[in-house]
Amino acid sequence: MSYCTHLSDKLKKLTVLLFAGIALVLLAIDRAASGNANDPFDPAGLDSRQQRGAYLTRAGNCMGCHTARGGQPFAGGRRLTTSFGVFVTPNITPDKETGIGNWSEMDFWQALHEGKSPDGRLLYPAFPYTEYTKVTRQDADAIFAYLQSLPAVNQANPPHAIRFPYNFRPLLHIWRALYFKPGEYAPDPARTEQWNRGAYLVQGLGHCNACHTNRSLLGGADDELAGGQIMGMNWYAPSLTSHLEAGSRDWTVDEIVALLSVGISERSVASGPMATIIRQSLQYLSKSDLRAVAVYLQSIADSASDYAADTTPSVPVSAYPDLVLGESLYQIHCQECHGASGEGVPGIYPPLAQNRSVIMASPLNTIRSILEGGYPATTKENPRPYGMPPFQQMLRDREIAYIVSYIRNAWGNKAGRVTVFDVERSRRVGTD
Ligand code: HEC
Ligand code: HEC
Ligand code: HEC
Repeated sequence: MSYCTHLSDKLKKLTVLLFAGIALVLLAIDRAASGNANDPFDPAGLDSRQQRGAYLTRAGNCMGCHTARGGQPFAGGRRLTTSFGVFVTPNITPDKETGIGNWSEMDFWQALHEGKSPDGRLLYPAFPYTEYTKVTRQDADAIFAYLQSLPAVNQANPPHAIRFPYNFRPLLHIWRALYFKPGEYAPDPARTEQWNRGAYLVQGLGHCNACHTNRSLLGGADDELAGGQIMGMNWYAPSLTSHLEAGSRDWTVDEIVALLSVGISERSVASGPMATIIRQSLQYLSKSDLRAVAVYLQSIADSASDYAADTTPSVPVSAYPDLVLGESLYQIHCQECHGASGEGVPGIYPPLAQNRSVIMASPLNTIRSILEGGYPATTKENPRPYGMPPFQQMLRDREIAYIVSYIRNAWGNKAGRVTVFDVERSRRVGTD
């Protein structure tokens, strides 16, 4: 390659970086405008218990669900689409008329721990009390103290729009008998304090299992953290126990902490709903809590070394016309950022070679990333992430299928090829 083409390559790369940068600033302005001018987590004026409550409230991402887009924090009104219909989150500010201003500590405990409202209603598990039940009484009281310190917002929200028969609340008695066991987290005395802290956060407030598990038709959770498609959302939350997906036994604690707090690591990037969880919640955990989470996550996963190495050869790209087409489309649309060998740019563009998100059995997230583009989480340690443009207008479904098949089988990657039907299926959009 001559010096000249090399230079023009560099320039091209720079232009791409620049445009990604501009788009990002626009996005940041948009976010600032729709965000709330007053930080509801500002510790000024809070006593130490309320401050602890504020920290725990973030760990549980209560605000993420209980705030409408552009709405008042914790005043509810956010719509959550599920296969049962649309849930609208309630107001949990201390307003006496429309919020939880008349509640006692005990009322709050029963909601969080047992999924029961003080008026006797059983709550739907769209509120992840199935996980929050693990929270200790002391922590629940601190969360309540914090919520009661917030400004009261008088806001009545529309009712849920749940389909028959699920709109018949007494059915929840049956559901609960099948799938719900209330109970605080019981520390395992054979494990370290750090491990127990991690387990407490992951199983409880972190409500990782609310997404990272398969749901039965009735919304009951299958295997803990073994991965599943998120209800009502066209995203697959990978297994946190399998080395083939997002199990982290073979990662270092530092790498796991980096992914969960920065949002991007040298190996991959958190996208879609996971980027949201990191932006709204996980990045605010203390380093020692994040390390505890990482130690626990490591302990529940299997390792590639537990299995015989996969010696099947990769598919030769040149042998399959769809892969050949995919390769040339990749060179035109993707290579600038993700590199000629899918190597990415550390901390900026994720690698696609040996990236488990790309090669795991379900191609759903990869297709979604390409259709929608997007940004890694905006975090304290990565305040201006570079983005990826959406390709849904630019490429046909067939072309996207070629590209996905190609990146799943190039550079030593090995995974099933995808069809145009997989892409069509992924286009159905879920919740906001
Ligand atoms: C994934 C979304 C989601 C998250 C995260 C979430 N909630 Fe909720 N919450 C809901 C929904 C939906 C309901 C309504 C359930 C119903 O009507 O049966 C609800 C109901 C409640 C209620 C009952 C209110 C009432 O009027 O009966 C309280 C209290 C509550 N949530 C507090 C919290 C707290 C505290 C947290 C964080 C620790 C939290 N929620 C996190 C979705 C969420
Ligand atoms: C709202 C749903 C949701 C919740 C809650 C959630 N996740 Fe995720 N998570 C996802 C989705 C979807 C993905 C796949 C996208 C991706 O790879 O980033 C994912 C991916 C991941 C990954 C792999 C990231 C990568 O690309 O390497 C890890 C690790 C992870 N989650 C850990 C956690 C932990 C730990 C918790 C609880 C503290 C949690 N998640 C809670 C939805 C969720
Ligand atoms: C302008 C630079 C840029 C271009 C061009 C680009 N990407 Fe990306 N890509 C990114 C960034 C930044 C991310 C991380 C953002 C995110 O995941 O939301 C990303 C994420 C991804 C992911 C998710 C990886 C993971 O770990 O979850 C895949 C898959 C992907 N890109 C494939 C492609 C393909 C295929 C093309 C071409 C059709 C392409 N990208 C074009 C910058 C780019």
